[in-house]
Amino acid sequence: MPSNGQTNWIEVDLEAIRQNVRRLLQITGVQVMAVVKANAYGHGLVEASRAAVEGGATWLGVARIDEALTLVQAGIPATPVVLGYTEPERACEAANQGVRLAVYDRMVAEAYAAGAKNAGSPLYVHAKFDTGMGRLGHSPKDGVEFIHWLKGLPHVQVEGVFTHFAEADEPQKPTTLKQLAVFDELLQGLNAAGLRPPLVHAANSAATILFPQARYNLVRPGIAVYGLQPSPTAPLPSGFRPALCWKARLASVKMFPPGHGLSYNYQYFTTREERIGVVTVGYADGFRRVAGNQVLVRGKRVPVVGAVCMDQCLVQLDEVQDARIGDEVILIGREGEEMISAEEIARQWGTIGYEVVCGLGARVPRVYR
Ligand SMILES: Cc1ncc(COP(=O)(O)O)c(C=O)c1O
Repeated sequence: MPSNGQTNWIEVDLEAIRQNVRRLLQITGVQVMAVVKANAYGHGLVEASRAAVEGGATWLGVARIDEALTLVQAGIPATPVVLGYTEPERACEAANQGVRLAVYDRMVAEAYAAGAKNAGSPLYVHAKFDTGMGRLGHSPKDGVEFIHWLKGLPHVQVEGVFTHFAEADEPQKPTTLKQLAVFDELLQGLNAAGLRPPLVHAANSAATILFPQARYNLVRPGIAVYGLQPSPTAPLPSGFRPALCWKARLASVKMFPPGHGLSYNYQYFTTREERIGVVTVGYADGFRRVAGNQVLVRGKRVPVVGAVCMDQCLVQLDEVQDARIGDEVILIGREGEEMISAEEIARQWGTIGYEVVCGLGARVPRVYR
């Protein structure tokens, strides 16, 4: 295999992202806001966003205004929405660049209006309601009054109303239906008062798939765009595939005698003569310093042994007699019959697939296919 000159890299299959978004459009029949915050869940903000838009996404959800501005500057033809908090001093910039902001607090909304006064265009906002997540959002109880008040602010246009689910990936629990009931009551109030904004959105990936009534006229999936499962109880249907592979290389292959300590603090001792490889991945790349990691070398699963270092780790290669310096090592991805998924690593690390991909190091180059 020709070398790409890298020792640790992420391959992103942009066609997988396009296909996953096409599938979301096909399943829902409504507009898609691809959530691309956190460097598009580690996949690369600009490239993954472009692919999501090519697949049919018309909105892009981010967490920070600078992510939104990066998308605008890159000329990605979809509208960015900052789903989290934005400092009021950025409101003028947001208005000028067409970046939508979330609002849920009167004081902050007033400050946004004051900031937008100096902009060449109005500030478009999406009002966020806390229907039960217990995080950001205005109370839905006086939600109609809030929207009425918001619509009266100068230089501000209320374009959307939204909420977020706490447990949509655990559909057996009653929370999502309860949150939906609260949100629907608010929407009825808004309808009755003639105040319903054009866009209504609520569904993350799990709700998009499992709760059709949560789709309204826009869905807001993140993890499904990248082909990863929201959770074991919210698997993706057919037609989605993971977009990301993570690879490194063997930097050394050596034989060690029995009883030899390996890596920092000698957490592993050879028990016989053992073939040990050094792999070019460490915790600075996002490969956690926990016991029990495995990787693929020449299509075989091998155990990581000893402590994971900052830039390297060690693997036991007795099962791969032909392993050589320069061989590709798969950390996430498939080789032959074997596959290590982000979800498998998440189980091993006691976390969720989201954290695995979002935690991939900034220094790891993303290579696009
Ligand atoms: C407000 C909001 N909407 C949508 C999403 C997308 O969620 P998921 O990746 O589970 O689809 C997130 C992700 O955390 C979010 O914070």
